[in-house]
Amino acid sequence: MSNGCTCHAQAQLTPEHMAQVDKIMEPYRGQPGSLIQVLHKAQNEVGYLPREVQVRVAEGLNVPLTKVYGVVSFYSLFTTKPKGKHKIHVCAGTACYVRGANELLDKLEEDLQVKPGDTTADGRFSVDVVRCLGACGLGPVVTVDDEVYGRVNNEKLDGILAKYKKE
Ligand code: FES
Repeated sequence: MSNGCTCHAQAQLTPEHMAQVDKIMEPYRGQPGSLIQVLHKAQNEVGYLPREVQVRVAEGLNVPLTKVYGVVSFYSLFTTKPKGKHKIHVCAGTACYVRGANELLDKLEEDLQVKPGDTTADGRFSVDVVRCLGACGLGPVVTVDDEVYGRVNNEKLDGILAKYKKE
């Protein structure tokens, strides 16, 4: 299974996505206990879990749709909105908060025109707030995809964004 999904905000759910979801479910058909595992794999493949995918998973695993909705909305790792090509996470845990995480969020909102939880109109970046990444000594901490940046201030954030904007 690939998790190098290049889906972005303007990406539409395609028949190929649904075929991928069917393929993921194949070994788990009729096994309600596999719900979280299947949703996780489906999100890796599609990039998010729109209603159509949730319905397909509910049918495939023989799980009530309400249960699928419940699980997707309960776990913060699941999202029903498409994410950006680059996923920015700003830690707003206590240590990062007191060192200015909110200023970074304001700057991201101003520079990228995106609020936390949303994706830029061009689909390049999504911004989310997280609670403690376990690197409090480096706060404020920002991650972009798999990269972790510590002691981030507005100036450093400019440099980080510039790197990804160039791509
Ligand atoms: S509070 Fe941000 S890493 Fe712990």
